[in-house]
Amino acid sequence: MFSLRCPVPLLNTPSSSSSSSFYSRSYYPPCHRSQTRGLAVTKRRTVAVESPEPIPEELAAELMPKHVAVIMDGNGRWAKLRNLPASAGHQAGVQSLRRMVTLCCSWGIKVLTVFAFSTDNWARPKVEVDFLLRLFERTINSEIEAFKREGIRISVIGDSSKLPESVQKLIGSAEEDTKQNSKLQLIVALSYSGKYDVVQACKSVAKKVKDGDLYVDDIDENIIEQELETNITEFPYPDLLIRTSGELRVSNFLLWQLAYTELYFNRELWPDFGKDEFVEALTSFQQRQRRYGGRHS
Ligand code: FPP
Repeated sequence: MFSLRCPVPLLNTPSSSSSSSFYSRSYYPPCHRSQTRGLAVTKRRTVAVESPEPIPEELAAELMPKHVAVIMDGNGRWAKLRNLPASAGHQAGVQSLRRMVTLCCSWGIKVLTVFAFSTDNWARPKVEVDFLLRLFERTINSEIEAFKREGIRISVIGDSSKLPESVQKLIGSAEEDTKQNSKLQLIVALSYSGKYDVVQACKSVAKKVKDGDLYVDDIDENIIEQELETNITEFPYPDLLIRTSGELRVSNFLLWQLAYTELYFNRELWPDFGKDEFVEALTSFQQRQRRYGGRHS
């Protein structure tokens, strides 16, 4: 479903040819054979052959999670291990994300939420922040037609006021262009944190009380949930959270929404997280008993 160019070329902007090694073309990671499987190469560009992946026999279709959330961790370490700058890791991370989107579409998962850029990531070196934002822009621009064709709805959550105007506009048009799609909702958390989400929800609730539209005594979990940014989806609570790279934290991701989410931690670095690793995560999920605080006999 994706038009894969491997490696993903950088934007042809003045900063992409700046002296910083972050942008140097010579740092592109080598193309993995598996990433080009199923691709037909034309003279002008590489085109993905769109064939759904059958559900592996160890997985039960009826036990698939509706909503999977992912903390795509380890891009920097993946790059460092190869003596590459972090940008190469992020680019390779986009390829991993593409694989996962394709698999979610094929296997009936309805919502995939990925932590692409946290509010804390603003503290990273400017060159890396700029690169990540451009990578996001570039990826959305290059994939939007595929998203439309494949029934993928794109939504973005997070503090968009901090994003450059060009990114805000792009998000608006990508969301508008795909809002009728229902095969998979890809929610990108960008300039997002769980605490930010709870705070902005509290502010909305407080404003309703101040405006006389809500009584304090009527505030309950449903009222809060309606104000969280994940109210854009029919399935706001991830069934499964995957975090790669061996870190055992939720790192200020969907704090409220993760209340009853099954957690899965994997040692692979995000760019190395592929189909086999996803099957392992889903197998683990399908073996769990979810009790939501109650009792199962
Ligand atoms: C964590 O790795 C990853 C990120 C901060 C960014 C992930 C972003 C992408 C894969 C691109 C997203 C693009 C779209 C279109 C959604 P890290 O740098 O913290 O890794 P480290 O812990 O090894 O340093």
